[in-house]
Amino acid sequence: MGKLQNKVALITGGASGIGAATARLFAAEGAKLVLVDLNEEKGKIVEEELKAAGTEAVFIKTNITSENEVADLFKQAVSAFGKVDIVFNNAGIGRVHPSHDLDYAEWRNTVNVDLDGVFLVAREALRVMLLNGSGTIVNTASMYGWVGSPGSAAYNAAKGGVVNLTRSLALEYADKNIRVNSLCPGFIDTPIIPEDDKAALSTMTPMKRLGKAEEMAKAVLFLASDDSSYMTGNSLIVDGGYTAQ
Ligand SMILES: NC(=O)c1ccc[n+]([C@@H]2O[C@H](COP(=O)([O-])OP(=O)(O)OC[C@H]3O[C@@H](n4cnc5c(N)ncnc54)[C@H](O)[C@@H]3O)[C@@H](O)[C@H]2O)c1
Repeated sequence: MGKLQNKVALITGGASGIGAATARLFAAEGAKLVLVDLNEEKGKIVEEELKAAGTEAVFIKTNITSENEVADLFKQAVSAFGKVDIVFNNAGIGRVHPSHDLDYAEWRNTVNVDLDGVFLVAREALRVMLLNGSGTIVNTASMYGWVGSPGSAAYNAAKGGVVNLTRSLALEYADKNIRVNSLCPGFIDTPIIPEDDKAALSTMTPMKRLGKAEEMAKAVLFLASDDSSYMTGNSLIVDGGYTAQ
């Protein structure tokens, strides 16, 4: 029996990279999947792939920065599967830009997706999980929620916010049978990293390679499943040694 048998898992950013790899692993562990993304074309491809392998899966196009769309998303998820047990709150964007030249609009957009969007999804998840009497939320932060880097002030500030949002929500719902943890990836080989940057980022990493989305998925499975049943408010850094430097 899989680790997520009879569980319903909702994954934002499920059309690509870490979210799609996690959807595949969760499906292999017996979960039913709600895939969420702005990118409908890629989302539908992952949905079809999972269905072809015998998994119950539905793709729901949603912008996580829209309060109404996120509320509607959870209504649709509950009407499709009756409940939501696991939320992998993972959609995000990132861009490198010198801070003295960063438009306020770009700052707002980054923080809007990477922090506000994570809050909106978590809030709706909590509402459903409180009714259910249980649940697990895994937020994707970043190793840059722990350390700084030049040219990514908005992203790093938002990811630091996700680390402390995780602690705060975990404490608020610890006695309600709802666990909240975050995943903090290092440099992972997904479409968010420009092809031209990959060699330099590998060199900067002690293990001298980028991480794989599948390696993140295994850490997410640990945080989402009963394997981490006494863990809440934590942030799991999976970064090839980067933050140990
Ligand atoms: N790849 C890395 O090196 C790395 C490192 C640390 C953290 N992360 C984080 O991991 C998460 C997943 O990123 P990834 O590496 O898989 O990149 P990715 O670009 O492959 O996936 C991100 C997905 O989020 C979706 N998305 C973006 N904005 C959205 C919105 N407003 N509403 C709904 N969906 C939206 C995109 O369409 C995309 O499919 C992100 O939060 C990212 O910040 C990635």
